[in-house]
Amino acid sequence: MWYRTLRPALFALEPERAHRLALQAFRLAARRGPRIRGAAPVKCLGLRFPNRVGLAAGFDKNAIALEGLGSLGFGFIEVGTVTPRAQPGQPPPRLFRLPAAMALINRLGFPNDGAEAVAARLRHRRYRGVVGVNIGKNASTPLERGVDDYVSCLRTVRQVADYVVVNVSSPNTAGLRSLQSPQLLEPLLSALLQERLAGPRGRPLPLLLKISPDLCVEELRDIARLLKRLPLDGVVATNTTLSREDVGVAASTRDGGLSGRPLRPLAVHTVSTLRSFLGRGFPIIGVGGIDSVGAARAMRAAGADLIQIYTGLIYRGPSLVSQCVRDGLESATGT
Ligand SMILES: Cc1cc2nc3c(=O)[nH]c(=O)nc-3n(C[C@H](O)[C@H](O)[C@H](O)COP(=O)(O)O)c2cc1C
Repeated sequence: MWYRTLRPALFALEPERAHRLALQAFRLAARRGPRIRGAAPVKCLGLRFPNRVGLAAGFDKNAIALEGLGSLGFGFIEVGTVTPRAQPGQPPPRLFRLPAAMALINRLGFPNDGAEAVAARLRHRRYRGVVGVNIGKNASTPLERGVDDYVSCLRTVRQVADYVVVNVSSPNTAGLRSLQSPQLLEPLLSALLQERLAGPRGRPLPLLLKISPDLCVEELRDIARLLKRLPLDGVVATNTTLSREDVGVAASTRDGGLSGRPLRPLAVHTVSTLRSFLGRGFPIIGVGGIDSVGAARAMRAAGADLIQIYTGLIYRGPSLVSQCVRDGLESATGT
């Protein structure tokens, strides 16, 4: 309720400024997360999640506000994308609201403090939920040397992450999404599987792939085959889309990745297609346009074991998290 009062003030600010302000508020409000009534812990990826609802990558890229964000009720938080070296990202403006469509367009390009700085923060974290680290490559690293960047990030974070996500699906780093083709993806994932060693609790560190919603059925089939063959531990579907369905003409000319409600059908379709190729039991984290309990349930019904939220939090506020945790997710047919 209180968010409805606060939202106009936040939306009057330039979007990145509002985001920085909100993150600082969460950082200062740091405290241990509440127990959400009705939350059922789940086992997935060999880990115990306090509930199925997580914060998607990109919100707390540098792991500065885990405790405060945890207090909203998230069962897990994915930090990053981190790159080996700190980088500023693309020049602003680079984040845009589309309120009528309940969507955002961003072309941030991985601004972050670098993997070392984020790992140092995670080493001292007090947040008790699960923390994933999403890894990528620096913009200045040529694509042919991209594997080195991912391996470097993994080495830096593998002792402090509960799971690691290989991000080959952000549209704002030139050429990154081409790493989704099997010829480039297999060597990348194989190199990372060799490097993952054991995670902080002595078990092999779960390694997941984050994919785009703009892949066709054949591409999804090839990726699913590869994931099962290697095998990887799970998949995060999806990142933002380059499509501009249902967002109006003005927005359609902006460069960047679209998130929020218009992404939902694509993301849900990607998850259900992946589930059909992967079969039961292969962990899928579903993300894209979840802004209501109904949307969270639809994502679960499509086959997601866990869900993540980003843009829905901006439009609906923190109560979305507790609603999804309480009401949304136990009755659906996931694994
Ligand atoms: C401003 C912004 C920044 C993002 N940054 C990242 C990122 O660094 N790495 C990543 O894998 N995904 C990033 N994402 C994508 C989200 O994690 C998520 O996959 C996507 O927004 C779809 O979920 P949503 O519709 O709930 O926002 C970002 C999204 C937004 C809106």
